[in-house]
Amino acid sequence: MPYAQIEGWGMHLPSRIVPNESFVKMGLDTSDEWISSRTGIEERRLAGHNEATSDMAVKAAHRALRVAEAHASDVDLIIVATCTPDHIMPSTASLVQNRLGARRAGALDLNAACAGFVYALAMGAGQIEAGRAGRVLVIGADELSLHLDWRDRSTCVLFGDGAGAVLLRAAVEPGILTSTMGSDGSGADLLMIPGGGSRYASNGRNGSNSGGRYLRMNGSQIFRWATQMMSRAAEQVIRESGLEPERIDLFIPHQANQRITDAVSEMLKVDSSRVYSNIAMHGNTSSASIPIGLDECVQAGRVRQGDVILMASFGGGVTWSAVVMRW
Ligand code: ACO
Repeated sequence: MPYAQIEGWGMHLPSRIVPNESFVKMGLDTSDEWISSRTGIEERRLAGHNEATSDMAVKAAHRALRVAEAHASDVDLIIVATCTPDHIMPSTASLVQNRLGARRAGALDLNAACAGFVYALAMGAGQIEAGRAGRVLVIGADELSLHLDWRDRSTCVLFGDGAGAVLLRAAVEPGILTSTMGSDGSGADLLMIPGGGSRYASNGRNGSNSGGRYLRMNGSQIFRWATQMMSRAAEQVIRESGLEPERIDLFIPHQANQRITDAVSEMLKVDSSRVYSNIAMHGNTSSASIPIGLDECVQAGRVRQGDVILMASFGGGVTWSAVVMRW
């Protein structure tokens, strides 16, 4: 059975930096002190007016292909994990496929909210392990800023935009060692962008209630679910990999809140020197947060060949996923 290894990585962040103070200047009843102490976020990047999810995804993908010294025509499958696609149809992945010139590639979007990238990584690896693909481009890209109510201080300060990508290829050594994906739809109401889909049809078929196009969230409930399900998923993939938790060289969690990262790391007994955090700079970039983190770790020299990396994420749905891999 072939294994899936990461051979290329890349990221893209929009150029517009928005520090916490900007929200105070906008007249929101908040403070830099509240945001940074309750979330760890100091600033975030927000996409420009003509910058869609696919634009960021294409830039991250180009970088991943360049690192791997691969051509777009070598790619068999493109999976874009996103909950903020350019359109309902066609998929963002098809737009990316065209712009990259990935002529041989199948293309699909995957929506598992913020857990999407790790879901997509596991599914891309599965295609390679089954012998159905030789190279899979896995992208996490989100532009949640378009779905934020800028008058709602409990959500608008939390998110940033961005994209990250990895190129997986078939190899004789792992690679991706173990993965898990989970969901509990009974928590669907806890984090939701209600409008824009078939439940609240935009043509008024289901009444005049549009459901709202803004993200709404029960922060404290999500906080509880996130710490519990991320740590359970992480424990499961560590156990199934046959490795001891001390063998984890680097833990890259989904970046939602520094307090969630700290709580999960403590539950897993991974000390902070082995945990990557970029939430101060980027906020929560949804499905982009883990591949952005991976790229930054490689660039900073925090990943050596043979290192064991744990990734764990959590998102609306609710969904969760985790992967253990050897670099
Ligand atoms: N500035 C000032 N005060 C605020 C702000 C703000 N930006 N936001 C909320 N508050 C207030 C609330 O109104 C509340 O005031 P009240 O007591 O007068 O009602 C008070 O602060 C405390 O609110 P809590 O919600 O209890 O604050 P908490 O410490 O739980 O922090 C937060 C809120 C940051 C949202 C936290 O619950 C959290 O991070 N939850 C998880 C969020 C998350 O991870 N979401 C995404 C996961 S999935 C994905 O990534 C898509």
